[in-house]
Amino acid sequence: MPPSLLSLLTPLVPEHTKVMGKEWADARRAANVARLAATLSTALAGRTDITFELGCGHGHWLAAYAAAHPGEFCVGIDLITHRVERSVRKQTLGKLDNVIFLKAEATEFLEALPPAVVLRKIFILYPDPWPKKKHHKHRFIQASSLDLLAQRAAAGARLHFRTDDADYFEWTRTLLAEHTAWNLKTETTWPFEQTTFFEERMTAKRDLEAERVP
Ligand SMILES: C[S@@+](CC[C@H](N)C(=O)[O-])C[C@H]1O[C@@H](n2cnc3c(N)ncnc32)[C@H](O)[C@@H]1O
Repeated sequence: MPPSLLSLLTPLVPEHTKVMGKEWADARRAANVARLAATLSTALAGRTDITFELGCGHGHWLAAYAAAHPGEFCVGIDLITHRVERSVRKQTLGKLDNVIFLKAEATEFLEALPPAVVLRKIFILYPDPWPKKKHHKHRFIQASSLDLLAQRAAAGARLHFRTDDADYFEWTRTLLAEHTAWNLKTETTWPFEQTTFFEERMTAKRDLEAERVP
């Protein structure tokens, strides 16, 4: 079904629907992807690459980054509506025309990204660490999500990851080191400092940098 038709069907799959199950979840995901694809085809028209922040929270970091890097087009996404609204406010107040913030789930966003657009830089700052072992499966960084990011990343693209959590740091370091599409750097340079909402509440900064294997 073409995306335009699917987006017309979006209202048929309301967020509050309580009918759970795979069919429902698949339909909701397809509708989300179609809606995002429609938004992105307009917002990214004519663009070939973006700087991407996954889980932008309140947008402190990416709004400041975009202001300091007018030559890059930046996209920040987050799952939580009020965080995205705060991010959009920063974009508006700063009159920034090189950044957009969207409410989106990351794997859905990557699926919806127009084929002509690649990720040039990827930033993930203070992702939820899910500290309990039984919850590790909820961590965003998994071999499968590194696959998805690699599929949409340009050759030579950089992935920058920052966490306060020692265990999540080791987890991500190991997965990046084992992944054939990512080359984990031994020396890490954090490209731009701007304290994020969560960083203010953390005591440690642990950084990783990887390059998309050409
Ligand atoms: C701990 S917060 C950090 C926010 C921000 N980077 C900061 O440092 O202030 C993690 C954020 O990632 C978002 N997030 C988690 N999983 C996500 C996903 N699959 N797609 C998009 N955002 C996600 C959450 O909604 C949350 O706002």
